[in-house]
Amino acid sequence: MKHLTSLSELTTADVKAILASARELKDKFLDGDRPPLLRGRVLTMIFEKPSLRTRNSFEAAITHLGGGSTFLSVKDAGLDGRESLADVARVLGSYADALVLRTFSQRLIEEFASYAACPVINGLSDERHPCQALTDAFTMQEVFGDIRGKRLVFVGDGNNVAASLSIAAAMLGFSFTLCGPRDYWLDDALLADLRAKHPDANLVQTDDIPCAVRDADVIYTDVWASMGQEAEAEKRKSDFGPYQVNTALMAQAPKSCRFMHDLPAKRGLEVTDEVIDGPPSLAFQQAENRLHLAKGLLAWLLDAR
Ligand code: CP
Ligand code: NVA
Repeated sequence: MKHLTSLSELTTADVKAILASARELKDKFLDGDRPPLLRGRVLTMIFEKPSLRTRNSFEAAITHLGGGSTFLSVKDAGLDGRESLADVARVLGSYADALVLRTFSQRLIEEFASYAACPVINGLSDERHPCQALTDAFTMQEVFGDIRGKRLVFVGDGNNVAASLSIAAAMLGFSFTLCGPRDYWLDDALLADLRAKHPDANLVQTDDIPCAVRDADVIYTDVWASMGQEAEAEKRKSDFGPYQVNTALMAQAPKSCRFMHDLPAKRGLEVTDEVIDGPPSLAFQQAENRLHLAKGLLAWLLDAR
């Protein structure tokens, strides 16, 4: 049984197979073809946090592939204490062909996967956002072709998106720099583990903006306060103020440098309108690609060819 609770549980070959599957399905889609590889299959989603892209791209993906979806809040699913997680996972896993969970707790998704008799996908937890990082690698491949050796600089918070991007970078051979205040860096244990598994990985953390962005191929940012961190928003606004991705920051990078953001964006905080709406921005190509990545991922997880 294949799951995607974190990119760490996949091999590099798995990641490349998912990206190739997404590429094939996107090319077909652009030719007007939506092969019904998952006809009659059911995707069930349980979300504890809001979502525009993840929920709707998975719903569209399973529909394009000929299947259908159901959506449950944590309360609907009974995960608020109505019954045990193990019982919910066993029951839903017997109706669905795949499950997507978006929760605060990474552990909850992993436990769910251990009881469900179908693939479980992490649709974002406090710690990881693997579907986003896969989509971002896919988007970088569209833009750059070969992404080995490309330099992605994530300016901001060492959050779930940054963590998953660092794993994707180590696996696929692009470099990853987290540039932000020291108190918000990624867990050293994650980077140590990645370096042990991928000795050639180029993973750096710094608070020095000019040095970090000087050679960047991509400057990436995300919200300063993630879902669940609303109470810290004011403190984070002042801590991250110098790290806003604006025209002056982009001007310190090479002219060819592209901008990425997973969305939703807090315009005027981590990024200005000029940058996110400007020609270097890939933010909406990333958002669109969530659909194609979701299709590729579902086809790969369910061995649909
Ligand atoms: N990027 C992303 O995961 O967006 P949503 O929170 O809208 O799903
Ligand atoms: N880091 C953000 C990503 C949203 C897609 C959050 O967790 O809220």
